[in-house]
Amino acid sequence: MSNPSLLILAGDGIGPEVMAQVQRIIGWYGEKRGLNFDVSEDLVGGAAYDKHGTPLTDETMAKAQAADAVLLGAVGGPKYDDLDFSVKPERGLLRLRKEMDLFANLRPAQCFDALAEFSSLKTELVSGLDIMIVRELTSGVYFGEPRGIFEEGNQRVGINTQRYTEAEIERGARAAFELAMKRDKRLCSMEKANVMESGILWREVVTEVSKDYPEVALSHMYADNGAMQLVRAPKQFDVIYTDNLFGDILSDCAAMLTGSLGMLPSASLGAPMENGHPKALYEPVHGSAPDITGQGKANPSACILSFAMALRYSFDQGAEADRLEAAVEKVLADGIRTADLMQAGDGKPVSTTEMGDAILAALDASL
Ligand code: IPM
Ligand code: MG
Repeated sequence: MSNPSLLILAGDGIGPEVMAQVQRIIGWYGEKRGLNFDVSEDLVGGAAYDKHGTPLTDETMAKAQAADAVLLGAVGGPKYDDLDFSVKPERGLLRLRKEMDLFANLRPAQCFDALAEFSSLKTELVSGLDIMIVRELTSGVYFGEPRGIFEEGNQRVGINTQRYTEAEIERGARAAFELAMKRDKRLCSMEKANVMESGILWREVVTEVSKDYPEVALSHMYADNGAMQLVRAPKQFDVIYTDNLFGDILSDCAAMLTGSLGMLPSASLGAPMENGHPKALYEPVHGSAPDITGQGKANPSACILSFAMALRYSFDQGAEADRLEAAVEKVLADGIRTADLMQAGDGKPVSTTEMGDAILAALDASL
């Protein structure tokens, strides 16, 4: 049997730096665990624009469709700020999500014990925090029509459309309920049913789906209250299910509770492929971080933990995913820190490569 295929799109900014460390981890799994992947690399975002004049070529899109999993670094940077909207780096990522139909975006917000003090919230509010946000990723206001900037009388008007079909709400809800079943069996659905018809429909459909999951305790919350509750008492949540735009905002909010964006992975999952696993793209929640690009300061953990999610959700390697997550946790517990995880008065931070070294050493020690 051939090896599972992994397409790596390192992208822009710190993407290539953190992905270089993931490549070492992938190498380790081949060498030490006999877990081999057919890895290929390609361009996305500004890097693709620089070479091809588009943030994602049709060839790369086809490779992504054919891969067992895609691992993405980050896209964007100030260099591309003035580009036409249609070729901005972000359009490459949005095209991948849309055409691969990756409707369920899993964004865990987990607070590592060793990092609880880095949160902007009091330690007792976040220690042990373990939330899973499921964000609908292929519809809503990100993609709804009509959209554009139009002339209306003597002025322009900017239009985007929040649009959700029942089927779109339902399939994401099922993904969220399935996850809740494997966790603490609590699901909070967030929308704005008090002002938006799409929110009313959202609430109705999620309630309907809940009948198939009687063990899961379902609650509903307006998304603005949800934002407030996330910073007031985040541990009240287990799984949160919400739409594309609210999910974008609430997941950044939840991420910061954990202390550093440099620690958080994500998985974007679609329908099952022939091999039985979902179409999937894994990426760190952090962006391209142009302010620290090329300085060896970036924390590779989020990207490495995204690979751990790939091991779990795309390659049936739950135990190896646990091993990798434990290795990262061990390194943190040992006090090894990249610059994003340091406070004034702490010692010297380790570099991106040294963080990779430490995680590899912890993996070795796990054997
Ligand atoms: C995210 C990002 C993207 C989004 C951008 C880069 C298009 O903020 O993944 O959360 O808005 O979805
Ligand atoms: Mg975002």
